[in-house]
Amino acid sequence: MKKAGSVHPRNALNELAGNEWLFFTKSVLQTSYPSAYGHHLRKQHGANKPPQLMKHIIEFFTKPGQTVLDPFCGVGGTLVGASLCRRIATGIDINERWLAIYEQVCREENLLAQEVIHGDCLEVMAQMAEQGRAFDFVVTDPPYSIALEKTMCDGTYDIQHRRTDFDSFSDHPRDLRNLPSFAQFYDAVERSAQAVRTLLRPESYFVVILRDSYQNGEYIMASYEISERIKRAGFVMKGIKIWYGTGSRVRPYGYPYTYVPNIVHQNILIFKAR
Ligand SMILES: C[S@@+](CC[C@H](N)C(=O)[O-])C[C@H]1O[C@@H](n2cnc3c(N)ncnc32)[C@H](O)[C@@H]1O
Repeated sequence: MKKAGSVHPRNALNELAGNEWLFFTKSVLQTSYPSAYGHHLRKQHGANKPPQLMKHIIEFFTKPGQTVLDPFCGVGGTLVGASLCRRIATGIDINERWLAIYEQVCREENLLAQEVIHGDCLEVMAQMAEQGRAFDFVVTDPPYSIALEKTMCDGTYDIQHRRTDFDSFSDHPRDLRNLPSFAQFYDAVERSAQAVRTLLRPESYFVVILRDSYQNGEYIMASYEISERIKRAGFVMKGIKIWYGTGSRVRPYGYPYTYVPNIVHQNILIFKAR
């Protein structure tokens, strides 16, 4: 192994030094990223991702100047992360409101505005494939589940663990969150993974960030179900990183009667095109 601090001359994947490469391969990431890069605007989207986290992921799977796609881009955590490390990104979202917030963030923060496309990512990715477009890396966090009724503590608490202004979802029937059943949700995720497969260059990576759910007394391991669907779409699963954003709020859901988890982590699922 090359000594820590230098980029291996045969490193074809990224521009990380040996010590940075090895750090990334740890299966647990424990961080609390400071609110930055227009967080006061981006927090209107309760599932926004820290650009610093997205940069960390993008920097492992690409080199500067390579292309990144986020088919469920929201207010642009991935897009900002890509600008911070000089990658070229494209984001798709079905809710125009989130794309407008991303564009406002770029203006206020003086960030390079990446390409954004409004629409259902299944349709947009099909058009991109017809146009012969291709990407070096895809990273995204789709809706975690269909809209669930709040069943914990009689609905006193929302599922969110962070302070957020999140109050609105789209009412678009093709918004994955609005699908009527988990079966249809998993089918739609599989179709979107198939579309990603057609756009990814050979041997490239696809990373999906997902939070599991809990409803009606049952843990719903969406990350397992979705991993199986992504594998069926032509990917090999390479690993999981558990991301624990320190400082997550803990709530007394089952206390003092029964065990109910406080889900304070998210799963970063790592796949490679077959
Ligand atoms: C978990 S959020 C992504 C948040 C994003 N990472 C960020 O930093 O803001 C999932 C996004 O998927 C979008 N979405 C849901 N169904 C979609 C579809 N069929 N096509 C494109 N976007 C969709 C939602 O509008 C939502 O913004």
